[in-house]
Amino acid sequence: MACSTNYAAKRGCCASAPFPAIIQRMSTYKPAGPVPLIIDCDPGVDDAIALMVALNSSRFSVLGITAVAGNVPLRLTEYNARRLCALLGRGDVPVFAGCPRPLLHNLVTAEEIHGATGLDGAELPEPARDVAAQHAVSFLIDVLSAASEPVTLACTAPLTNLAVALIQRPEIAAGIREVVIMGGGINRGNITPVAEFNFYADPHAARVVFESGLPITLVPLDVTHQVLVTNDVIASIRAIGNPVSRVAADLLAYYGSMRRPALAGAPLHDPCVIAYLLRPDLFGGFPADVSIETDSALTMGQSVVKRRRMPEGGRPEGGPPEGRPPVTVLDTADAGGVFELILSHLGGVGA
Ligand code: BDR
Ligand code: CA
Repeated sequence: MACSTNYAAKRGCCASAPFPAIIQRMSTYKPAGPVPLIIDCDPGVDDAIALMVALNSSRFSVLGITAVAGNVPLRLTEYNARRLCALLGRGDVPVFAGCPRPLLHNLVTAEEIHGATGLDGAELPEPARDVAAQHAVSFLIDVLSAASEPVTLACTAPLTNLAVALIQRPEIAAGIREVVIMGGGINRGNITPVAEFNFYADPHAARVVFESGLPITLVPLDVTHQVLVTNDVIASIRAIGNPVSRVAADLLAYYGSMRRPALAGAPLHDPCVIAYLLRPDLFGGFPADVSIETDSALTMGQSVVKRRRMPEGGRPEGGPPEGRPPVTVLDTADAGGVFELILSHLGGVGA
């Protein structure tokens, strides 16, 4: 069996193959059946592309989408998630509305990037079903408490929903296989010089999640700024010529026009989470301890990444006294491979 990128699993299956000094390519995990997945998101253009890829993949069994306030207020993020499900013909996937604001701070949104609706630039259908009656936090608790097979969480938004679920019922950790989070930066921010949007928006929630001891893979800005949407990428997506690809191209054209002039394209943050789950070999990373700044106004929401030492033939050393497992922090992406994967999934159901 191929090794998982989850360190616990690695410890189990790689007894005779010690940790490499630095993990340069994440190994490919191939489970027997579809991976049970919950997507916690705030659509948002890049969340929308992530949902398109995930919901068009036969490799996932998407148990639900949990929406949170982030790029736009909650009433829009949950509505946008349902509109995307309708577009994708995935009315079978329930959408749960979660927390309408961060734990302690006032809501910060990002309409300047995603537009007033969160999905400006494209025509989407009306939802095919109502938002679920159950609160997203209670859905997370119920599913994770009862899971016969551990569930993977793809988190592409402020981490408020997961933090509240962990505060209410810490034992749900047993039902989680892995949490893959888009957020933070090793050496950069996009809201302040040191803080990225998802962690800046709810730093206290991020701190709860990173102090939980869950197996976490972090997809920071350092990776997503390698996956840049250019006009050529948009043209290739539009050329697929189906309703989903047309919406994707329209959304990305709007999103691209909002980009920072310093970059050669618009960073496609959230789809990297799904791409990593489908093709971990497209990414490189290293084990680290990640702490979130919640005290200083100047550096609020900063992710402080401290590499763990990796003795040859041994296990990663260091880490906090509580013995938390290291976070897998990604730092490289094969952008061409990621876009190939996205294109293949926008063309219809992909493996
Ligand atoms: C993150 O912030 C949001 O605007 C995007 O959807 C992404 O999740 C990037 O910093
Ligand atoms: Ca997002």
